[in-house]
Amino acid sequence: MLEPFRNEPLSSFSDPKEQQSFEAALRKVESELGKEYAIRIGAERILTDRKLVSINPAVPTQVVGKVAQADKAIAEQAMQTAAAAFQEWRKVPASHRARVLYKTAALLRRRKHEFSAWMVYEAGKSWVEADADTAEAIDFLEFYGREMERLDERQPLVRIAGEDNEWTYLPLGVGIIIPPWNFPLAIMAGMTSAAVVAGNTVVLKPASTTPVIAAKFIELMEQAGLPDGIVSFVPGAGSEVGDALVDHPLTRFISFTGSKEIGLRINERAAKTVPGQRWIKRVVAEMGGKDAIIVDQDADLELAADAITASAFGFSGQKCSACSRAIVHNAVYDEVLKRVVAKAKGIAMGDPRTGVYLGPVIDEKAFHKIKEYIEIGKREGNLVLGGETGSPDDGYFISPTIFADVPPEARISQEEIFGPVLAFTRANTFKEALDIANGTDFGLTGAVISNNREHLEWAREAFHVGNLYLNRKCTGALVGVQPFGGFNMSGTDSKAGGRDYLLLFTQPKVVSERL
Ligand code: NAD
Ligand code: ALA
Repeated sequence: MLEPFRNEPLSSFSDPKEQQSFEAALRKVESELGKEYAIRIGAERILTDRKLVSINPAVPTQVVGKVAQADKAIAEQAMQTAAAAFQEWRKVPASHRARVLYKTAALLRRRKHEFSAWMVYEAGKSWVEADADTAEAIDFLEFYGREMERLDERQPLVRIAGEDNEWTYLPLGVGIIIPPWNFPLAIMAGMTSAAVVAGNTVVLKPASTTPVIAAKFIELMEQAGLPDGIVSFVPGAGSEVGDALVDHPLTRFISFTGSKEIGLRINERAAKTVPGQRWIKRVVAEMGGKDAIIVDQDADLELAADAITASAFGFSGQKCSACSRAIVHNAVYDEVLKRVVAKAKGIAMGDPRTGVYLGPVIDEKAFHKIKEYIEIGKREGNLVLGGETGSPDDGYFISPTIFADVPPEARISQEEIFGPVLAFTRANTFKEALDIANGTDFGLTGAVISNNREHLEWAREAFHVGNLYLNRKCTGALVGVQPFGGFNMSGTDSKAGGRDYLLLFTQPKVVSERL
């Protein structure tokens, strides 16, 4: 009998034993850096001359791994293999498919620190952020396994005399999985396992900056009994391999998480029917955010400052859920700003291997993009903290940066920066704060810090985001507890880690038999 779903506990690094165990995992990973990883299609392992070189963003000269890079011909081979494998996998009982996920979760749990350590090296995650990422991956596996078993039960229908009516969920076919780098294990594992447990076969194109952790995860799924051909691992350039996979006539669905720009491009391309295509491609796109925390005049200001600081600077603001806008009532604005600046000044930044809170941003492109936004911010608001960076040769470090008195229509208030850059904006009333918060194209997360019951109830209804938090930070959604996904240009309104999620990868069929 399966235990009910429970979230995987987080590790406590204040315990010296846990600390030593994590240090040992870091040493193990260090000894394995620089290896080559093959493309995986069916039983074949393909090495290519062209490679994605994955580096440690804290030490850009350190190579984490070299991953074979696919081209269009290899993408085609992956599609044909996935289409053939689908004919068998779709017939495998749901309980058996779910068991592969439970076994993968068990293997991952045993090697938890090792997988987290890979993310410290490859994504620049702090120990705590990497540990939460691994825990979330385990959660997705355990949750989606149970969800598939639930969907496999006889579904309730209105009974009528003389007929047996049955509702079942069928898989869709071949899916393309395109995850981002910022939750390189959890989101990649969640997107892949949800599609697979629902009976689909997939081609996984990992994010180009974090392909090694994805390769490690696919190895793990295979160790857990995933048959050949169910997940093809096809790293490659988005513009070449990504487009080829999205455009392919055998592609039945695309599950994408990433930026608004790429999500919209995929949506547009997928909408165009190509010769040989026999269905409308389904696109599940989870995209960016410009998330705000509103602080009311009647609020616990210390709670507000803690919530803003954690949400804005955790993992250097590289979360779709990160707070990039603090919208604060005039009456408490100066005090909240002062407290957040003081807290942000106290954040230790450095090589995440050493256990510090804040590491680098993901790569040189992100480093320069964030620097550009800091220059834009200097023209749009008043720089009150940070704004300086070192040379990218010494790691892609950007310290917490805060701008005050930023107008709501400023670019740094409207565009996703995806770095440790926070804009403070004044509001004269709670209504104005809500209007400012809702005044972007996005609608992913948001928070309100207030002791005014009426205002909290007002926000419940009027703050138009997929995940709204009252009197807490706006990051750190838990699988099953806070199913996650946004409105408007933040995505296609789905909820990862929620009861509706697997339906996105299935099609319901009703069979009626006269008795
Ligand atoms: P990105 O859009 O640059 O890349 C996402 C993925 O798309 C990568 O695997 C990339 O290689 C691939 N890609 C690039 N061009 C492509 C193309 N033409 N065709 C197909 N695939 C292509 O995003 P990113 O930098 O990896 O991730 C950060 C973004 O993801 C942020 O905008 C963040 O807000 C968003 N995000 C959203 C959620 C959510 O749940 N809403 C969660 C995490 C991250
Ligand atoms: N699900 C992640 C969070 O809530 C993005 O922070």
